[in-house]
Amino acid sequence: MFSLLSLALAAVVACSPLVPRDTVTSVVNLSNNTGTPAHLASGFIYGIPDTANQIPDHFYTDIGFNYGRAGGAQVPAPGRGWIWGLSEYKVRFASALSNYETARKYNANFIFLIHDLWGADGTQNSTAAYPGDNGDWASWDAYLTQFIADINANGATAGLSIDIWNEPDLSYFWTKGQTQYLQMWGRTYHRLRTAWPSVPLIGPAFAGQPDATNTWWTNYLSFVKSNASVPDQYVWHMEGGGGDMQGAYGALYNMLQTYGLPIKPLNIDEYATYTEECPAGSAWWISQLERVNAHGLRGNWLSGWELHDLMGSLVSKTNAATAYTETGTGYYPNGDFQVYKYYYQNMTGYRVGSQPSTDLKIDTYATVGTDKVRVLTGVRPSTTGTWAITIENISAVGLATSGTLDIHTWGFPGAGGHFGEVDAPTDLGWYSHTFSGNSVTFPIYQTDTVTAYAFEFYVG
Ligand SMILES: *[C@@H]1O[C@H](CO)[C@@H](O)[C@H](O)[C@H]1NC(C)=O
Ligand SMILES: *[C@@H]1O[C@H](CO)[C@@H](O)[C@H](O)[C@H]1NC(C)=O
Ligand SMILES: *[C@@H]1O[C@H](CO)[C@@H](O)[C@H](O)[C@H]1NC(C)=O
Ligand SMILES: *[C@@H]1O[C@H](CO)[C@@H](O)[C@H](O)[C@H]1NC(C)=O
Ligand SMILES: *[C@@H]1O[C@H](CO)[C@@H](O)[C@H](O)[C@H]1NC(C)=O
Ligand SMILES: *[C@@H]1O[C@H](CO)[C@@H](O)[C@H](O)[C@H]1NC(C)=O
Repeated sequence: MFSLLSLALAAVVACSPLVPRDTVTSVVNLSNNTGTPAHLASGFIYGIPDTANQIPDHFYTDIGFNYGRAGGAQVPAPGRGWIWGLSEYKVRFASALSNYETARKYNANFIFLIHDLWGADGTQNSTAAYPGDNGDWASWDAYLTQFIADINANGATAGLSIDIWNEPDLSYFWTKGQTQYLQMWGRTYHRLRTAWPSVPLIGPAFAGQPDATNTWWTNYLSFVKSNASVPDQYVWHMEGGGGDMQGAYGALYNMLQTYGLPIKPLNIDEYATYTEECPAGSAWWISQLERVNAHGLRGNWLSGWELHDLMGSLVSKTNAATAYTETGTGYYPNGDFQVYKYYYQNMTGYRVGSQPSTDLKIDTYATVGTDKVRVLTGVRPSTTGTWAITIENISAVGLATSGTLDIHTWGFPGAGGHFGEVDAPTDLGWYSHTFSGNSVTFPIYQTDTVTAYAFEFYVG
């Protein structure tokens, strides 16, 4: 079944060089060098087993894993966090510390989620305490004292950053409104800044993207300006199934002007819906994040111990889909994993700028290596249809402005979905395109909703 599918796709991709006139196009500009690749999208939230070394090293190193984020969410009793008492806090801290140490083993950065360590991981009951309830900060202050001491005792500040609270704009994680949230932000920022002058304090990690009509954003930006508690990275999430990075960053940029705030690095520390976590969606998100130089961590849509395993749905393991056990092994890569592996290992040299199609449904990420130009592309699921890619200024890589260009196509199938095994991309062969005017345009026949493609040709 797998090889038949590959043959069918090869036929589809190679069948015609003609692009219908009204086809929407993503454009790559080979003369726009945008710098050295740092595979900015190669992070994921949770996804690391609490047992060290359970997932073999090569799964992390193959994809250049570079950003983790955890805080013991959903560790069951007796590990439900601070609001259940010090001993439950300690079990949860041990989970997060283990994940931190795994991340550091691969030299990855690690974002500590202190709302999860507190216990507000979305499973807390309706009467659970939040910082500053009834104007009383004693428990939160004691919690931060304990947390700072435990991080220091474990020498765990290298590569560390702190997300001060996750998605306070959603009632899963915060039910006490904006005023109490902002007081918590200001209090916590200055406390942690004093404790660790060089640990990045990041936020606001809103579920909602920047938007001048969103009062969580406007009140936050106004507050951090007046409170001298501007985050070291601007963080938000892109998990609503809509939006795009240029639009979202543009809105943030305008608001930073309005509130007189500095430009800072961006971190989308949860990106992609569960449906978007397929090869096509992964390629689309990589393209979006790279364009605006945002760090990105894949969202994690699994629960319980599966949340603490499977690398944010990049790997699976024996029986995971049917009879999951947290200590089970037999890991294997899925289709998304192959996209991230290619992105890290093959897309070397320098990046070049690109633009998504005007309908925002197809996007490209491209690099120019010493050997080849490589263009990774994907549609935003769940979409099928015909799009095109235009590669402009071919002479910038030492080729003629017209003639024939031989392009090698790889398919990245999503066979079996999140729990399916895919061990390599599929070689879809070479196709010759005639071109002129220093640019080439070729069609993408997206006949399923999940396959990503890479196109390669030799530089001159
Ligand atoms: C491609 O990038 C170059 C260099 O940044 C720029 O001068 C040129 O205008 C760009 N071409 C298009 C069509 O945007
Ligand atoms: C709700 O959670 C708190 C911990 O935040 C706990 O002390 C309390 O007993 C829980 N209430 C119920 C009804 O489970
Ligand atoms: C920032 O806000 C917190 C919480 O209200 C407050 O304790 C702190 O004094 C404020 N700091 C500054 C510099 O305004
Ligand atoms: C990517 O690079 C690796 C390491 O150089 C190589 O083994 C592999 O064949 C390349 N993959 C593709 C699809 O070109
Ligand atoms: C180069 O590409 C970047 C990233 O896509 C884009 O922001 C920039 O506007 C492009 N520059 C030119 C001159 O086209
Ligand atoms: C094409 O690339 C060449 C070489 O980098 C550059 O000099 C030229 O300005 C580029 N033209 C356009 C239209 O981008």
